[in-house]
Amino acid sequence: MTVGTPPDFLDDDTVAAWSASRAPLVDLLRQARTPGRLTGFRRSGGPAVVITEPRHVHQVLGVGGDRFVKRSHRARPLLGDGVLSATGDAWRSQRRLLQAMFTGRGIRRWEHHITGAAARVADRWADRARRGEPTDIAEDVQFFTVDTIWRSLTDRPLDHATYVDLAAVQDIVAVLPADGGGAALPPEAVAGIAALDERMSRALAAARTRHAADGGGVSVLHRLLDAAGTDPAYTDRLIRDELVTLLVAGYESSARTLTWAFVLLDRHPEVMERAAGDAGAVQGVISETLRLYPTAWLLPRHSPADETLDGWHIAAGTDLLVCPYLTHRDPEVWPDPERFDPGRFAARTPPPGAYLPFGIGPRACLGTRFAMREMEELLGALLARFTVEVTGPAGEPVFGINLRPAGPLHARIRERT
Ligand code: HEM
Repeated sequence: MTVGTPPDFLDDDTVAAWSASRAPLVDLLRQARTPGRLTGFRRSGGPAVVITEPRHVHQVLGVGGDRFVKRSHRARPLLGDGVLSATGDAWRSQRRLLQAMFTGRGIRRWEHHITGAAARVADRWADRARRGEPTDIAEDVQFFTVDTIWRSLTDRPLDHATYVDLAAVQDIVAVLPADGGGAALPPEAVAGIAALDERMSRALAAARTRHAADGGGVSVLHRLLDAAGTDPAYTDRLIRDELVTLLVAGYESSARTLTWAFVLLDRHPEVMERAAGDAGAVQGVISETLRLYPTAWLLPRHSPADETLDGWHIAAGTDLLVCPYLTHRDPEVWPDPERFDPGRFAARTPPPGAYLPFGIGPRACLGTRFAMREMEELLGALLARFTVEVTGPAGEPVFGINLRPAGPLHARIRERT
C-alpha cells in the first residue's frame, strides 16, 4: 500500500538534456531541488530522490540509519570486507573494535606520529623558503596525511616507494567499474592492488614478529592481531581489508580538505593572519572549509522496502542522495552561504542534519577525531611559521568520488620573521 505523497520527479527530457550535456551530477541535483518539497529524478538505475533539508538528512542518516542502507561499495574489489563496505552483524562488530581505537583518548597513542609528520612538512617548507623554491601544497598535504595514517596503522616509517604505492589507491578507485564488482578489473587496478597487498603483507609479517616477541605496539595492526587471537573472524584477509579501508578512507579526505583550506585562506589573507598562532581560529578555518567543501559531498543510500519520509512516499528500490554540499549552502540555515566566515560556528550551533562533513548516524566517519587532530596540527604548524601565496590557478571544484580542487596548488612560501 502506498503511504504518503509521491516525490516530484524531474521530467525525463530534463534528465536526458542533463545527461547529454555531460554536466556533473551535482548540477542535476541542483535542478531537482525545490525547497519544501521532496524531489528527484528517474535514471536507468531507478528512481532517486535528493535529500538536502536538514530534517530529512537527520531522518535518513540518523534515525533511519537502519532502513536506508548503503549499497555495495564500488571500491569493494579494493576494500574487501573492511568496515566501510561491511554490513549487518559483521560491520557492527568490526566497527566496535575500531571505534575504541579512534576515540579522543585512543588517538593520543599516535600523537607522536601526527606531530612528527607535521614537523617533517614544516622542515621541508623551511628548506624551500630558504631556497626560494615554489611548492605544491596539494602534494605536501597528501604526503602528510599518508604519513600519519600509515604510521598509526602499522608503526612503520613511510619511505618514498611505499608512499607511491599507497597514494596510488585513489587512481585504483577511479578506474574501478561503477557496478561495484562483477565486471573484470582493468589491468592497472589489478597491478595497483597487487603492489598495495605486497606492502600490507610485509607490514603484517613485521607486526606479527614483534607481536609474538613482546605483544607490544600501539598501532591499529597490533590491535587487530590481538583481536585475531580471540576472534576467528580476524583472518589475515580481514586484517588486510581493514588496513586498506582505513588507508583509503583515511588520507584523501583530510588531504583535500587541507588543500581547500589553503585555497580559501589565499583568498582571505586577513583570516590567514588571524589564524597564525591561534588554535581556536585554525579550528574555525577547518570547520568552515568543511562546510564549503565537504569532500564527501554525496552520501548515497538505498531503500530496499517501501518507506515514508516526512509524509513522502519512498518506493522500494529508490536511491536517496544525501548531499552535504547542497545542505551546507542552504541559505535558510547558513546566512550568506557562499561567504567564507570561520567565525560563524562560534556564533551559532547548526540544527541537527544541517552540518555533516563527517556524516551522521551509525555510519558516520570513524576517523573524525583523528582527521580533525591531524588537520589542526598541520595547519596550525604551517600558519604559525609561514606566509603562503598561491601562484597557480586555485583549482575549480571537481565533483568526483570526492570533492577535490582540480590540479596541483602551486604556492610561494616565506618564513615569518
Ligand atoms: C577530512 C577528513 C574526513 C572526512 C571529511 C570524512 C568523511 C566521512 C564521511 C562523510 C563518512 C560517512 C560516509 C557515509 O555516511 O556514507 C565517513 C566514513 C568513514 N570514515 Fe571518514 N572522513 C575523513 C577522514 C577519515 C579518517 C582520517 C579516517 C580513518 C582514520 C576515516 C575513516 C572512515 C571510515 C572507516 C568510515 C566508514 C565508517 C562505517 O561505515 O562504519 N575517515 N568519513
